[in-house]
Amino acid sequence: MQFNPEKISKITIRNIKKFKKADVKISVLTAYDYPTAMIMDKVGIEMVLVGDTLNTVFCGQENNLSATMDQMIYHTSIVKRGLKRAMLIGDMPFMSFQASAEDAVRNAGRFLKEGGADCVKVEGGVEVVPTVKRIIDAGIPVMGHVGLTPQSVHRFGGYIVRGRKPEVRQYLLDSAKALEDAGCFSIVLESIPSSLGKEITESMDIPTIGIGAGPDCDGQVLVIYDMIGFFEDYQPTFVRKYDNFAERMKKAVTQYMKDVRSGGFPSEEESYS
Ligand code: KIV
Repeated sequence: MQFNPEKISKITIRNIKKFKKADVKISVLTAYDYPTAMIMDKVGIEMVLVGDTLNTVFCGQENNLSATMDQMIYHTSIVKRGLKRAMLIGDMPFMSFQASAEDAVRNAGRFLKEGGADCVKVEGGVEVVPTVKRIIDAGIPVMGHVGLTPQSVHRFGGYIVRGRKPEVRQYLLDSAKALEDAGCFSIVLESIPSSLGKEITESMDIPTIGIGAGPDCDGQVLVIYDMIGFFEDYQPTFVRKYDNFAERMKKAVTQYMKDVRSGGFPSEEESYS
């Protein structure tokens, strides 16, 4: 029987694996608010990630490191209200899982209990495998994330492409495999050479979701404010801008100011008798 993604009423960790088997690419975007989530769900996006990038693109912080669990849960619960079909992924922020497996299980549980998430995403390679196993053992599905993991930006010395050196390439291959063996249902590959994205994807049964990992991944993810051209501070090479929201917003706000100053707003129809 032919696989038809449109027939799926709710994306789950079981049916997401069918996308890879059927060679149907998976679309993932981040969201931080209700109207955005609702629009994404209506057009049929498969997965929505409440990424810790909300700390930069939504809150204006310098990096993702100061994102807190409360902040992540707050936004996850808001995005949840906009979704019916898409899978909702909560992103475990910096220091919510690194210090102990107990912290990790408790915090991952909060994403499901308080945020309404379907699963969580955890950054890191072989070193996080014991923690990932504990979370999965607690009944919480985990998406892995290897390559340029922004929570380790200071250890890497910047936002650099990972996996060009043979030893790092091998570490990333081993990490992806170890995360799959630990029970992750999917894995994000960030900022790695396309050839490595292809090699990891072909070596695994679970779907890979790329961001700056080339065209051969089983799916792609982008930060929503980057791809609609809303966030203007900087733009990674891997972003494709599908719109220019910032420019369109500037135009709308400028026109509004003109109308207010000229008395052209509000009109009679926009006023009460
Ligand atoms: O935090 C985030 O938005 C992410 C994606 C860019 C993969 O981790």
